Amino acid sequence: MKLLHVAGARPNFPKLAPVHRAAAARGLEQIIVHTGQHYDDALSASFLRELEIPEPDVNLGVGSGSHAQQTARVMTGLEPVMVEAAPDWVVVYGDVNSTLAAAVVASKLGIRLAHVEAGLRSHDRSMPEEINRLVTDRLANLLLTPSRDAGEELRREGEPDDEIVFVGNVMIDSLMAARDKAMREDVGARVGMNSQTVVVTLHRPSNVDDGPRLHRIARALSEIARERPVLFPAHPRTRARLQSFSVDMPGVQIIEPLRYLEMVAVTHQAYAVVTDSGGVQEESTALGVPCFTIRPNTERPVTVTEGTNTLVPDPDDLPGHVRRATRPDTPRRPEGWDGRAAERVVEALVHRG
Ligand code: UD1
Repeated sequence: MKLLHVAGARPNFPKLAPVHRAAAARGLEQIIVHTGQHYDDALSASFLRELEIPEPDVNLGVGSGSHAQQTARVMTGLEPVMVEAAPDWVVVYGDVNSTLAAAVVASKLGIRLAHVEAGLRSHDRSMPEEINRLVTDRLANLLLTPSRDAGEELRREGEPDDEIVFVGNVMIDSLMAARDKAMREDVGARVGMNSQTVVVTLHRPSNVDDGPRLHRIARALSEIARERPVLFPAHPRTRARLQSFSVDMPGVQIIEPLRYLEMVAVTHQAYAVVTDSGGVQEESTALGVPCFTIRPNTERPVTVTEGTNTLVPDPDDLPGHVRRATRPDTPRRPEGWDGRAAERVVEALVHRG
């Protein structure tokens, strides 16, 4: 059996890594296509290295652009690759533009499509990722879900039962495999963090492309920084917006984006995290670290109902939440967040032939 994996942006890589490893262990033939949506070492190559993903067979080098430009470039680049490879399955991950583009191309070529991380819904169509999730799931022949609620969403939308398989969370496979190695990273010392440090990541357009909102978030982070250290590894998009909106954040330590193992290490050591990232909501739940998500909704509700996540739609409320943060004595892991999700992904693919 031949699998063609498509990945392109930072959050795809920790999902691809364990699935590729599990499929290799079963002796499956595999092709990795990197779309090139992310291209900086910090967002792409360093992730491949640290997650021990083999060099991609193809890199489409699509780069940045508007949604339509980026999606179109991925589609145009992928079509001949898929035709030539003629895989049994195209496997796509998450909800980025590369995911959507690959889904459309595979479906129109009549190649079966498997979606890892199917069924997540924020019910907020102003998020580009929500559009990507809806379209990808509508087209996929195999919907591999990270949590039970995701399967329920898909059934409500009318997806047939036999296409939905609950596999658990492949991001947590990567996290569990990386944790010991991450703990040996000296990043804590390098960036001068301690057990009181609040780690911040922000990159959603709804937070960083809205000037007045970004100013309010910055004020809240500065207020937190008066009480404890605040470490902010900034995505390139965020850094650009901080500059163009002239946002100042006294007391907040803004640094370059962290590599995968560094991010796992600082999350594990943090007093709390403040984020708008989907992956960080999951990782902090698995590590038992309080997480405050600056959004009105989440497509990952188990991180709230069973994990350490709290939604904080209004940035003015952040300092109070952070002050009151407590770590659970024993972190609860949602069902299927057990380090074996990728094996179940591969089992589902093999089972369907
Ligand atoms: C993308 C995903 C988002 C994911 C995020 C993780 C979509 C719609 N969004 O958002 O779901 O959570 O990745 O990081 O697919 N840039 C660089 N270097 C790079 C890549 C991007 O400097 O290697 C800058 C460019 O200025 C670019 C901007 O970041 O225009 C945005 O990149 P893009 O891939 O379009 O979206 P992200 O915001 O990264």
